[in-house]
Amino acid sequence: MAQKEKDIVVARPSESAGACTAHSCDISRRTFVRAAGSVLIGSSSLLRLSDLHADEGTNAHDQRPTIGDRLVNAATEGAPTPLKVSDIPENSNPIIALPYDTASNTVRDGSRLNKLLLLRLPVESLDAETRARAADGVFAYSATCTHQGCEVSQWLPADQALMCFCHFSKFDVRAAGSVTAGPAPSNLPYLSLRSEGGELVIASAFNTKPGAKRSG
Ligand code: FES
Repeated sequence: MAQKEKDIVVARPSESAGACTAHSCDISRRTFVRAAGSVLIGSSSLLRLSDLHADEGTNAHDQRPTIGDRLVNAATEGAPTPLKVSDIPENSNPIIALPYDTASNTVRDGSRLNKLLLLRLPVESLDAETRARAADGVFAYSATCTHQGCEVSQWLPADQALMCFCHFSKFDVRAAGSVTAGPAPSNLPYLSLRSEGGELVIASAFNTKPGAKRSG
């Protein structure tokens, strides 16, 4: 087991005993990633700070979002179903998604740092920079707060901002995820999306490394 996972209190489902099929293991992984996010919100001290800066692993589950990946809803069990532009409600709380490599049928759910927030706004309301990295009004940010790594989850329509409930940092989605309130030390990372037959496809890697940022 990688060092970065040793100190997470949530038990990871065993995959070494061969007791699960590829499909059931995949579901267990997604359940694990969701549970780890919940632990962070409730008790961030249970995780080592180093986990929040963890480098990506070498297997497909751990690898960061990759160009050409589709996206799946992190809350959905069962066989991976690529998300479409039409699955993302406009001007609503973000959908939490995970990258999905269709070639290897792998959901990249080995790290919380792979979680993405998908938002959709009217195309005409987006500035040129955001529009350029959006797919028909859908754009993506990292779901991991740059302060202490909690999950950013709340959409504030009046501010056009995402908020982290742990210490109330706000990130302006119209200004490249810049911090407008709270203790977060840096912008929320983003990546580019495109649409292929209505399906959302990752068009670039993160602009900066996701996760909590060390100060100093
Ligand atoms: S962890 Fe998000 S504001 Fe502190």
